[in-house]
Amino acid sequence: MPQQLDTDWWRDAVVYQIYPRSFADADGDGIGDLPGMTARLGHLAALGVDAVWLSPFYVSPQADAGYDVADYTDVDPLFGTLDDADRFIAAAHEAGIRVIVDLVANHSSDRHLWFQAALAAGPGSPERARYLFRTGRGPRGELPPNNWLSVFGGSAWERLEDGDWYLHLFDRAQPDLDWTNPEVAELFDDVLRFWMARGVDGFRIDVAHGFVKAEGLPDADYDAHPMGSGFDRGPMWDQDAVHDIYRRWRRVLEEAGPGHILVAEAWVGPAERMARYVRPDEMQQSFNFPYMMAGWSAPRLRGVIDESLGANDAVGATTTWVLSNHDVVRHASRLGLPDPTGWPNGVGPRDPQPDAALGLRRARALTLLSLALPGSAYLYQGEELGLPEHTLLDDDARRDPSFFRHDGAQAGRDGCRVPLPWAAAAPAYGFSPSGASWLPQPEVFGDLAVDRQEGDPDSTLAFYRRALTLRRERRLGAGTLSWQPTGDEVLEFVNRRTRVVANLSGSPIALPDGAVLLASGPDAAEAAADGFLEPNAAVWLEASAG
Ligand code: NOJ
Repeated sequence: MPQQLDTDWWRDAVVYQIYPRSFADADGDGIGDLPGMTARLGHLAALGVDAVWLSPFYVSPQADAGYDVADYTDVDPLFGTLDDADRFIAAAHEAGIRVIVDLVANHSSDRHLWFQAALAAGPGSPERARYLFRTGRGPRGELPPNNWLSVFGGSAWERLEDGDWYLHLFDRAQPDLDWTNPEVAELFDDVLRFWMARGVDGFRIDVAHGFVKAEGLPDADYDAHPMGSGFDRGPMWDQDAVHDIYRRWRRVLEEAGPGHILVAEAWVGPAERMARYVRPDEMQQSFNFPYMMAGWSAPRLRGVIDESLGANDAVGATTTWVLSNHDVVRHASRLGLPDPTGWPNGVGPRDPQPDAALGLRRARALTLLSLALPGSAYLYQGEELGLPEHTLLDDDARRDPSFFRHDGAQAGRDGCRVPLPWAAAAPAYGFSPSGASWLPQPEVFGDLAVDRQEGDPDSTLAFYRRALTLRRERRLGAGTLSWQPTGDEVLEFVNRRTRVVANLSGSPIALPDGAVLLASGPDAAEAAADGFLEPNAAVWLEASAG
């Protein structure tokens, strides 16, 4: 670790999400692994990130790409060994990069020892009481216990041959745990301790708003809270008692010493409700999904920025800025869709296709805006290369359970999970020494490979490196935002000595005075030198004179 023990490091950190199965494959099986990640840490050090968040690499049958955990304290052989995890953590720390791991505690895998024991023990047993087993409705119990739907499509209940039903808010291979059972909380205290003892600096809490269900599991009113609207409400989400769990975990973290953090994945609104997860005795951060979903609209973005900063400030937390992750259409494609505020569950060959050039221009502009906002920024692997969503994946190649549970009517999330291109001329674009890749990569990945972008000052990679350097030098993450008056589809603010202007309108605008520090693209840089900001572009200007 670098010398200064900065226990508040997360407040303005840039955190890079590694999706292990798609980052770098060392052993040639076509699935990324821990040794591959360790070998590529130099890329992250050169990019200038403060921390990484690793999606799950634990023992798992991979029914939901590792978000179905069969053993929380061991590594799946697909990704390596516990020693490989130790080596990765040590090498990351050596490079000054902190490590956050994923904690999937709403549900386990159906192959977890606990669930296997519950199946064997039968109805009414203490083993079943660790999950949400219920008897069905109807004269013979043949109807599910309530009307809840799985987030991935279809009913959230599965029936066993012995007649009991169990709840799974996601895939049937992901049975929900019963968090009112003290054994469940005890298990996860130990999981937290286990990984902190191995050196991890924090946890990203999967489905943080879902652990506790309303008493009696009442029917949901899907007319009031339609599925797919993004912000989950209803009796399975955002129940007050979830906060007791985070207070408990905060104490477990504190036992391990300062500097460890919890980050909530909670699809909760409005902002005040979300801020309850980051009160002083709970988590440190939560992902800002309203910001991610604000699309390409200046008033919406400004509204979300103000609301989230206001709500988080009120509880003393910092705000996070996030545009992409492994569950959503990559922002370089999303912003090029015919409706750039739309929010599809993936884009497939039968869907309207994005305008790639427009999407990338807007993505770079919005990234530049995000990286100048006070707080912490989360990047998703590959966005620093400007990678698009793979929108033409064949149905045969798809793996996401949400594609199958929607009977193929929604493309699902595979398109943002395609393995990274490292070298244009190598097999699998350098992802894997054998050329194997668990999802096929589109041809455009050749042009976007890391080695193609290295040394090209106009590349998206060079742009990200420059933005992160300036952000750090200018201490933008620890600054404050002051809006400047503008037209409707323009955003302008000053943070410390940096003025940020983003043009979301359809025509060029005149720029205020100030030397250009960074523009979102080469054309934008040229125009900015002449005092104009093009449409779909953003710029950072020196604001010291103003
Ligand atoms: C959220 C994760 O990000 C997603 O990938 C996963 O499918 C669900 N939680 C269920 O664990």
